[in-house]
Amino acid sequence: MDNRLAGQTVLVLGGRHLGTAIAEAATAAGAKVHVASHRPGGLRIDLRDEATIAAAAAELGPVDHVVNTAAAPHAAPIRELDRDKTVDAFAAKVIGPLLLAKHFTIRRSLLLFSGQVGWRPARGSVVTGVTNGAAAFAARHLAAELAPVRVNALSPGIIDSGVWDGKPEVLANAAKRTLVGRAGAVADVTDTVLWMLRAEFLTGETIHLEGGRP
Ligand SMILES: NC(=O)c1ccc[n+]([C@@H]2O[C@H](COP(=O)([O-])OP(=O)(O)OC[C@H]3O[C@@H](n4cnc5c(N)ncnc54)[C@H](OP(=O)(O)O)[C@@H]3O)[C@@H](O)[C@H]2O)c1
Repeated sequence: MDNRLAGQTVLVLGGRHLGTAIAEAATAAGAKVHVASHRPGGLRIDLRDEATIAAAAAELGPVDHVVNTAAAPHAAPIRELDRDKTVDAFAAKVIGPLLLAKHFTIRRSLLLFSGQVGWRPARGSVVTGVTNGAAAFAARHLAAELAPVRVNALSPGIIDSGVWDGKPEVLANAAKRTLVGRAGAVADVTDTVLWMLRAEFLTGETIHLEGGRP
């Protein structure tokens, strides 16, 4: 058993699908885990609201790792773009993480979630594409800003996290497109996240976890 995370504090943003799974995996690895949600109740961080970030940073004090799983996707063709939803999408993936870096004392690493759509332009995915691409660039630049604290991004392909429940065609199409012949599983993500939190020579990088999709 690898006990390098034992006793370390991990703040996970996002109390839903992958956020919950990452929190459980980090807890099982011996970390002391805090989960922040933008919904009321418990530790509250809304990445659209800097005051909630500052308040949580003051409440928790220094943390070893921060993992941001937040997303507020706005999938719309350019003619139907909603400005407020576009700003919210950038808050979750880009501006919010910069503010996390501003307010939190992070001792070891910051991990941002990107996504494969950032590298695969298609009509209707301009906001999700640009925000996910920008998350990877944010990791690269924050790595220089926060050094020697490490900053990386994880860019998953389609993951059967629960977010696609009711849309089996998404998972079926993903299985056809990957080289490994299946969509991603939650354990694929949690294993990679734990590795990235422990990987002390990895910074400024984006890991593409997408089953070798061509
Ligand atoms: N599942 C996939 O196929 C897939 C593929 C590529 C990339 N990803 C990325 O992986 C990450 C997690 O995905 P998921 O499948 O777990 O989807 P999800 O359940 O929709 O996760 C999104 C999270 O964002 C949080 N959130 C939303 N607005 C927020 C805000 N204003 N402030 C703070 N938190 C906010 C939500 O948590 P609360 O409601 O608790 O705040 C939720 O846990 C996302 O960044 C997503 O883009 C997923």
